[in-house]
Amino acid sequence: MLRSSLLFHAVALPYDMLTRHPVWERDCARMALELPAGARHVLDVGCGPGNSTLQLPPGAVGGDHALSMLRRARRRAPAAPLVCLDAAALPIRSSSLDAVTLHSVLYLLPDRAAALREAARVLRPGGRAVLLEPQAGPRATLFGLARALPSPRWAVTAALWRAMSKVYGRSSAESLWTALESAGLRMLRIEETLGGLGLLAIAEKP
Ligand SMILES: C[S@@+](CC[C@H](N)C(=O)[O-])C[C@H]1O[C@@H](n2cnc3c(N)ncnc32)[C@H](O)[C@@H]1O
Repeated sequence: MLRSSLLFHAVALPYDMLTRHPVWERDCARMALELPAGARHVLDVGCGPGNSTLQLPPGAVGGDHALSMLRRARRRAPAAPLVCLDAAALPIRSSSLDAVTLHSVLYLLPDRAAALREAARVLRPGGRAVLLEPQAGPRATLFGLARALPSPRWAVTAALWRAMSKVYGRSSAESLWTALESAGLRMLRIEETLGGLGLLAIAEKP
């Protein structure tokens, strides 16, 4: 399978156009509400063109493997600190961050456990990992896409996101819960988002 970081390097422009949508942006903003109170040191892993980073507190760092994505993020958020990085080997001191966010990123990674271990390593005790992931199962596909239909442009984005996640793999609430706990994080909550297409998971470093 094509490594997702190479794929996203090639599709930065269409990805930016498709996800610059109020539904996606609202979801990114919802993720930001789950940061610990007063969070200042925040890393948005797999920031893409900056959709998710733009919703985080000022000073949040956007990190991505694809330079073309970082260039687009630079245009949208000229003041945001941006870093080229690999989610599986973060160039960051242990226990130094208040929060790590991965909005629609984990499912794309070849070694998800390594990325979650890295997120856990760089969080301070009480720091949070906040993730949006595509939800597994035909119910999520059926109801999620049906709910997207009234907004045709969002329906196209949602269908493409669904297709991508079919290729790379989706999570159930149980599997996401287990993966985060196996990385040494304590689960706080998992809930549905994006009309059931996605799962929002919030976990804390003990
Ligand atoms: C679906 S996009 C999500 C972008 C943004 N978070 C959003 O919500 O719109 C996934 C991003 O993860 C990045 N990515 C994929 N593999 C990565 C890796 N190993 N390390 C860092 N970023 C990676 C891709 O380049 C892409 O920009």
